[in-house]
Amino acid sequence: MTSPGYILFIIRGAIMELFDVYSLFDITPVRGEDCYVWDSEGNKYLDLYGGHAVISIGHSHPHYVDRLTSQIKKIGFYSNSVQNPLQKELAKKLAELCYIDDYQLFLCNSGAEANENALKLASFHTGRDKIIAFEKGFHGRTSGAVAITDNAKIVAPYNAGHKVQILPWQDLEALEKALAPQDVAAVIIEGIQGIGGIHIPSPDFLRQLQALCIKYGSLLILDEIQSGYGRSGKFFAFQYAGITPDIITMAKGMGNGFPIGGVLISPHIEAQKGLLGTTFGGNYLACSAALAVLEVMQTENLIENSYQMGEYLLAKLQNMKGISEVRGRGLMLAIDRSEKIAAIRKDLLIKNYIFTGVSGTYTMRLLPPMTLNKGHADRFISCLEAAVDSG
Ligand SMILES: Cc1ncc(COP(=O)(O)O)c(C=O)c1O
Repeated sequence: MTSPGYILFIIRGAIMELFDVYSLFDITPVRGEDCYVWDSEGNKYLDLYGGHAVISIGHSHPHYVDRLTSQIKKIGFYSNSVQNPLQKELAKKLAELCYIDDYQLFLCNSGAEANENALKLASFHTGRDKIIAFEKGFHGRTSGAVAITDNAKIVAPYNAGHKVQILPWQDLEALEKALAPQDVAAVIIEGIQGIGGIHIPSPDFLRQLQALCIKYGSLLILDEIQSGYGRSGKFFAFQYAGITPDIITMAKGMGNGFPIGGVLISPHIEAQKGLLGTTFGGNYLACSAALAVLEVMQTENLIENSYQMGEYLLAKLQNMKGISEVRGRGLMLAIDRSEKIAAIRKDLLIKNYIFTGVSGTYTMRLLPPMTLNKGHADRFISCLEAAVDSG
């Protein structure tokens, strides 16, 4: 006889819904190649959103697919309690491409997790418990990361328990006043603010920020989760300012879609066994994905391409009718209008099959794969001109 519990299980299972947290486009991507995505109806989209700055070397790059498939055929996972040569290979390759070779690498699974680990390290290292972040900053949705994010709507009372001060953007006076009591573990800043609308900290501000952190014994954390990994035209966006942060966090483009995050830790911060850890971080598949990304970036010269294509787009967009401002570095660009941007984005998507990103109400955000070429850019420009004209 079927038990009532069993019947209940079938009925409850049949009505399981997803927790409704995202506003979704009515599109189902089923295939990707380079800068293009195809939906289940066979429509081909130019992807200028890059799955939110994640697709760095292009969708399903053949070398990436080969690296991952050949790895899974050998072994996909073992825990961090054994030797994993791929992690060492990844650290070596990373050092070669980002020109930072004396930092220590800790591997994790996402951007928020990288930031959580950075905050924890800074607090342990300094023995302090306060963090400074900046207006319009975004650092993730986990407890500490969301507490330092400037969006009260997503901070629960539980998260708000952290000691955080959010300061006005690039206000050195406010910064010095906040650091002077010498109770701040770290200041965290994005290499380029992404979700906040592509705001680039001036090189001079970053240099003064670092000097103030040194003066008052606080650590400087650079969140390069969106701006890093070559997207800005340098490996890390902070490298435009020539500073040396104490901790650098990364994720997104690192795995080209395979979840992986990383923390680069200055040599003056000593490792301590058991302080950080993760079950999945740095597993064979994640490392293979990250290595394939770096290899493709190197062989296809994608950091330089990001820089060149960014300059190309900026020049074309600079004086375009109907655009109030364009800014950014490399392939991390914002296009502002004085009117709401939603209609233009919809036009681009529905009429021209072009995906774009957004920041707030008036700003379109471009975060395409770093393989973008002039043909893609020209097509976008002419479609944008037409959309602005008809809008
Ligand atoms: C600058 C920045 N930091 C942190 C995060 C959080 O990364 P994740 O979604 O991988 O946790 C994001 C995500 O958009 C981000 O843009």
